[in-house]
Amino acid sequence: MYTKKAYIENLELQEDFLNEAAEVIKNGGTVAFPTETVYGLGANALDDEAVKKIFVAKGRPQDNPLIIHVASREIDEYVEEIPEIAEKLMDKFWPGPLTLILKKKAIIPKETSANLETIGIRMPNNKIALELIKKSGVPIAAPSANISGRPSPTDMERCVEDLDGRVDYIIGGEKSDVGVESTIVDLTVDPPCILRPGGVTLEMLQEFHSGAYIDKAILLETTNSDFKPKAPGMKYRHYAPKAKVRVIRGNKEKMVEKIIKMVHNYRDDNLKVGIIATDETKDRYKDVDVISLGSRENLDEIARSLFESLRAFDDKGVDVILSEAFEESGIGIAIMNRLKKACGFDIIDV
Ligand code: TXA
Ligand code: MG
Repeated sequence: MYTKKAYIENLELQEDFLNEAAEVIKNGGTVAFPTETVYGLGANALDDEAVKKIFVAKGRPQDNPLIIHVASREIDEYVEEIPEIAEKLMDKFWPGPLTLILKKKAIIPKETSANLETIGIRMPNNKIALELIKKSGVPIAAPSANISGRPSPTDMERCVEDLDGRVDYIIGGEKSDVGVESTIVDLTVDPPCILRPGGVTLEMLQEFHSGAYIDKAILLETTNSDFKPKAPGMKYRHYAPKAKVRVIRGNKEKMVEKIIKMVHNYRDDNLKVGIIATDETKDRYKDVDVISLGSRENLDEIARSLFESLRAFDDKGVDVILSEAFEESGIGIAIMNRLKKACGFDIIDV
């Protein structure tokens, strides 16, 4: 199919593109668009036929529900109950990288919620996304705009790479600022349970409910467990580039030494290696492809460049990506969650 593409630099001057894209949504088509977390692939959340097109375009498993994106805090049309904590979290974090799981109303088709009685709902903090939702006049169901299993796209080019020819419209805008997908918090249970860590951290949520906790299943470093993640999507292998990924974890010095050793071994086997490093360590690795995600002191910066680094190494055709590990606190929990899934829990502790 033909995919129309438009990069929006100035919303006021280029409003026509958004009007066009909103028409596509109204007519049951698919539109990829920027958000502050990652790019999304959207369709009318209330139209089952439109939503099915998202699953086809991404090659997404049918049992993986979609998040609906709204442009205001007025969500009572879509959910049965809005507990007090939901109101507080919306006030504090919307628009922003926080998805609330609430009981859905019948207006949300089962295709959108993958037959669940609940729905994930979020108001993105991106002008293009918000305008698109407003102009469409409906909530927009949108998973990340990648082919299922690949790292989520954080700019228009990566979106085009995965979805050109598979969707009706791709709207580009600035790069995603957060770089990892939204935090998902289940508010149908008390205390609230984080189903996916993201930009809104555990510590931030605990200020609203001291009992908030992270789903135990997603903290496990194995897929062989009786605990299954509560978010259906968290059970799949994910964020995976074509290259094999391995994560090296431990004290900084030991980590660097181990990686240098591994690079030598892989070279002896004639394999091409890429290293995901930090500003503090990047110069330690010689004669090998290195991408620094930024300073260890700034985990926000690390999160922002993580997915792009995985895709960049695929472009370079490396066989193996060796990544340093990061501190698991704040947004570091989300970073490590994505890295662990990218490496399929191939973590080497030093
Ligand atoms: O930041 C984001 O959330 C991005 C942007 C585009 O908004 N979207 C995104 O969507 O990451 P997706 O589809 O890639 O991930 C949605 C995750 C999946 O793991 C899915 O299983 C889970 O949310 N999910 C959706 N609805 C759910 C529900 N009702 N109960 C439990 N998990 C749910
Ligand atoms: Mg995704």
